[in-house]
Amino acid sequence: MNLGTDYANLFKQAQQARIYAYCPYSKFAVGAALLCADGTVFTGCNIENAAYSPSNCAERTALFKAISEGKREFLAIAVAGGRLDGDANAPCWPCGVCRQVLREFNNGGLVVVTGDGAGGLTTKSLGELLPENFSADDLR
Ligand code: THU
Repeated sequence: MNLGTDYANLFKQAQQARIYAYCPYSKFAVGAALLCADGTVFTGCNIENAAYSPSNCAERTALFKAISEGKREFLAIAVAGGRLDGDANAPCWPCGVCRQVLREFNNGGLVVVTGDGAGGLTTKSLGELLPENFSADDLR
């Protein structure tokens, strides 16, 4: 189903989105690019806050933008993260909160793409990143 998806291009879009990261506290800048089933892409960056806990990760920024524009089906998300004064080629996997939020709209097949630290990319499915999860299925 995802064969032919240009993950390198999606990762580039995540790196572009990372430029807008607002991270004066952690100085760890993250960009994300979310590929929707209809081929559209929504990007996001992390947005921190002086009170710390209201901060939002890049992945959730991208997902919330997409959901608020009517999207519900997603194929892949690329994540580029690293120190503000450095590049973003090392792996940056979504945090636990973002994995759970992504799970709300995807049953595990979502492809998560990030750098491999050697100039290439690495991928895992959301199911691999969040096995034995809790979802709407459990509330039935
Ligand atoms: N962060 C993300 O935006 N995505 C991740 O996958 C990991 C962490 C953000 C949260 C915070 O603004 C900064 O990176 C350091 O944790």
